[in-house]
Amino acid sequence: MENTTEHQFPKASINQVAKSVLVTGGAGYVGSHTCKILSKNGYLPVTVDRHYRPGLKTYGPTYNINLPQEIDRLDEIIKRNNITSCIHFAGSTSVPESVADPSGYYKNNFIVTVSLLDKLISLGVKNFVYSSSAAVYGDPGIRLANESDHCQPINSYGATKLMMEQLCRDYHTAYNLSSIGLRYFNAAGADPEAEVGELRSKETHIIPIAIDAARKNKTFKIFGSKYPTEDGTCVRDYVHVMDLADAHVKALQYTSNNNVAEVFNLGSGAPASNKQLITAVEKYVGKMKVEMADNRPGDPPYLVADISKVKRILKWEPTQSSIDNVVATAVKWYNKQHKEELQ
Ligand code: UFG
Repeated sequence: MENTTEHQFPKASINQVAKSVLVTGGAGYVGSHTCKILSKNGYLPVTVDRHYRPGLKTYGPTYNINLPQEIDRLDEIIKRNNITSCIHFAGSTSVPESVADPSGYYKNNFIVTVSLLDKLISLGVKNFVYSSSAAVYGDPGIRLANESDHCQPINSYGATKLMMEQLCRDYHTAYNLSSIGLRYFNAAGADPEAEVGELRSKETHIIPIAIDAARKNKTFKIFGSKYPTEDGTCVRDYVHVMDLADAHVKALQYTSNNNVAEVFNLGSGAPASNKQLITAVEKYVGKMKVEMADNRPGDPPYLVADISKVKRILKWEPTQSSIDNVVATAVKWYNKQHKEELQ
């Protein structure tokens, strides 16, 4: 097809036939780390990603496909690779962007998912793991967010993720879709081998922005200093992307062995305020100029996960999510990306 890139991966030999999994957004941040772990666990991730370009590291056949417009291109890919499961990462992920552009967020997150699910169901693919978000909770107050809480999103990003969860419950009832939605708290850090990491055309997340500020001697702005938290800045739960990747493999196995429509929190369970985080970043990259700025629209004061459900049911535990490891691996990735500038 014109204007698309197809990156063919060497075919597995007869003796090492891997189980193929369709991964949408497999060239993105959490997607690429998950593909790495999938391939280490004997799966063959078959990636479709509209942002794929040659040079990006992937771990299986990769197709540049624009969803939902090119959804019919999945027919051949799914049939050719005998795919029976899908992990769906493709979507937009920035809270401030979603406040400014709800139209883009409802289309890219909700409408793409409806179109993808209809295609999967029509081809008999009924195991589905997808990215949800802690943003579904809205502002839960100064306490751990639990899956049984009433969800009231305060930004369009969270609203689109909550709609995706409802969609999956309805498709479970009507079409027997077995699904797990993973409510990520703040995905952070990078592959310790720095093969893959966070790469965005416009960065809005605190850790990469803070590293960049320290490295380039720019002023870092903390958004909001009068929140009802201990030090007045927002509190988040940073969970290492490699821990997230492990959880997807466990979720995939669980959806295949059980017929469910479940959601799980994925966090470290440990609170870190914006001020504390900046101090942790400074430990690795040196002091930076910090300025207190206005609150950022759509930000809840406190979002930290209760992770008892995922520990109990998926037998998952974060093992790489200490703030030190999160920051150290993020810095290693940043240094690799900016090698030439830093010389
Ligand atoms: N922040 C700053 N200065 C910056 C950038 C961010 O102070 O330059 C602050 C934000 O205001 C917020 C905190 O850092 O208080 C974290 O902000 P991020 O943008 O890094 O992350 P969010 O908490 O907004 O969102 C992330 C994911 C979402 C997910 C959410 C759940 O991007 O997908 O965590 O907690 F929904």
